[in-house]
Amino acid sequence: MAYALTKNKILDRVEKETASGGTVTCEKVAEKLELQAFVVCRYMETGMHLHLLDKDADTKGYSLTPHGALLTDSGYLRDFMLMINEETKDAWRAVTTDLMKDGPKPNRSNGFEITYGSDIWTYFSKNPEAETLFDGAMKALNPGPTGAMIMDWEPPSEDAKICDIGGGIGSLLGEILLHYPKMTGIVFDRPEVIKRSQEHLKAVGLADRAKAIGGNFFDDLPNELAECDAFILRYIIHDWDDDSNAAILKNIRSVAKKSKKDTKPVVVIMDQIIDTGAASFFEKAKSQMAINMISVCPYGARERSVQEHSDLFDAAGYENINMKHIPLRTIQSLVEVEIS
Ligand SMILES: C[S@@+](CC[C@H](N)C(=O)[O-])C[C@H]1O[C@@H](n2cnc3c(N)ncnc32)[C@H](O)[C@@H]1O
Repeated sequence: MAYALTKNKILDRVEKETASGGTVTCEKVAEKLELQAFVVCRYMETGMHLHLLDKDADTKGYSLTPHGALLTDSGYLRDFMLMINEETKDAWRAVTTDLMKDGPKPNRSNGFEITYGSDIWTYFSKNPEAETLFDGAMKALNPGPTGAMIMDWEPPSEDAKICDIGGGIGSLLGEILLHYPKMTGIVFDRPEVIKRSQEHLKAVGLADRAKAIGGNFFDDLPNELAECDAFILRYIIHDWDDDSNAAILKNIRSVAKKSKKDTKPVVVIMDQIIDTGAASFFEKAKSQMAINMISVCPYGARERSVQEHSDLFDAAGYENINMKHIPLRTIQSLVEVEIS
């Protein structure tokens, strides 16, 4: 419902028609958008029940609520809403109709592969529009999870070099560096993403303090990453099975070992870490993300407990693992491990 109102720009049209106050009828919205009035009117009525629209009892005209405004072109949740209702929705459906019925020996596929015939990153490489939407959806995390990390995490130092491994366009790195003016950073991601990362870092005024490097985190990491004080992995570990994660963590450890600095760097993972004793509504939201990982990512991807994260570091050869668990004020948690 909310998807239809977003995708068809019905909420945008209400915003435009009521920019100087007042309300707009559903018939006028339909006419302006060249859509069927009967259908638009039914959807807008439901949009009111979802608290996306307000309806004036006298004029029967509509206006946007603050929730509805989040789903307009300028609203920060728009791309997230569209993303989860497009390819992601098909992947969730495929788990229900196919993967779950795969018998005791699963074919090690996932909902995304069943539907689109390739893993999500290969699909994105061939469908840049879908990946741009994904970038926007990750950026939508800035006010919530990113803000929570900035509030609740103590970085190694005020002038640390922060490296965001699988950092996408650098929306998390950008926010951290904007908050800490002496920090520098690197965003490392697939080569296909890096041009957009550079554009984003430049757009937020960080071209002189942050750079973007393309590569594959399953290969040896470039020597430039040796100088990082913190290796951040946000929404990376839950994307992969245990063996893949051990390989990523091992590569981080190997490159960090080449550092000439005296201080020990840290690895910081942010995910929806489960079974942390958080309030039940937090655990409920986390369990839905856990289904998303099964649907969209390679077989074996999942949200993990603190102990399961510790096991991954163990499998990657980390020594004297003294893992800090830092619950955030959102549904996410951090785990932090020093590379000794
Ligand atoms: C779920 S997104 C998280 C993006 C970012 N960390 C954030 O929180 O906004 C996963 C990221 O991993 C990157 N990625 C996937 N496979 C990769 C690989 N083999 N090497 C480097 N990056 C990879 C994707 O391009 C994507 O940006």
